Amino acid sequence: MVVNAKEMIQKANRGHYAVAQININNLEWTKAALLTAQELNSPVILGVSGGAGKYMTGFSTVAAMVRAMDDSLGITVPVALHLDHGGYEESLACVKAGFSSIMFDGSHFAFEENMAKTAELVKLAHENGMTIEAEVGSIGGEEDGVVGMGEVASPEECKKIADLGVDFLAAGIGNIHGVYPANWKGLDFATLERIHEITGGIPLVLHGGTGIPAEMIQKAISLGVSKINVNTECQLSFAAATRKYIEDGKDKQGKGFDPRKLLAPGFEAIKVTVREKLELFGSAGKA
Ligand code: 13P
Repeated sequence: MVVNAKEMIQKANRGHYAVAQININNLEWTKAALLTAQELNSPVILGVSGGAGKYMTGFSTVAAMVRAMDDSLGITVPVALHLDHGGYEESLACVKAGFSSIMFDGSHFAFEENMAKTAELVKLAHENGMTIEAEVGSIGGEEDGVVGMGEVASPEECKKIADLGVDFLAAGIGNIHGVYPANWKGLDFATLERIHEITGGIPLVLHGGTGIPAEMIQKAISLGVSKINVNTECQLSFAAATRKYIEDGKDKQGKGFDPRKLLAPGFEAIKVTVREKLELFGSAGKA
């Protein structure tokens, strides 16, 4: 059931667990995320970056695929279709394309401009029955060409953006897209706590969910994180399973080259990763 993310995130916020945003790249990713959420009776958010949207030939293609697949698989758990790290134009395009939620990432603008554009998009999203996420500070590393320096968010700026009526807020707290380096200092919980207090408990979003240790995840959830994004980890498990299939020579046995066979181990591997995340974040059984 494709819906906006309001109710699922508010329920998670009240119930002290987090909803996973699983980024999707193609049909296999979408099907794996939808089926696993249904199997675990969990809400889920399907994240689509600008790059992934382009790869799938446009946001309208993505919306049509997700809505049709949700229907044909008989998915009854709440599913939000969410733009990830959208620019201004991408946000407008996703409103038109039939997404149910957007993230406007204005963190690379001067703060006043981030405020102005976020305010405009909050109004537009809500007029269209959609939820909206905004960002303060930046997530380190690179995701689909969006590069962040990893600045820790200012709690005062978080409050100003939260007061614009965004539904959930991504705040940089030392989190990084991709695999964490060995010398990573961990999440900045003092800042997270301050943001949680000063914003009056707006649901917070933790980007860079790949490879964050379970105890940090639990602590972040206890300090108001209600949505956690995972992208790289599904890519790594898909790649490892596909590599194994080929290295074992399975593509050369019988009709092992058939794409439905070739992509099957990767698909199953994504399902395992999604299952682990839904269980770790506590959303299993909460649909
Ligand atoms: P990872 O790629 O580190 O899992 O981060 C995903 C993310 O934050 C998407 O916005």
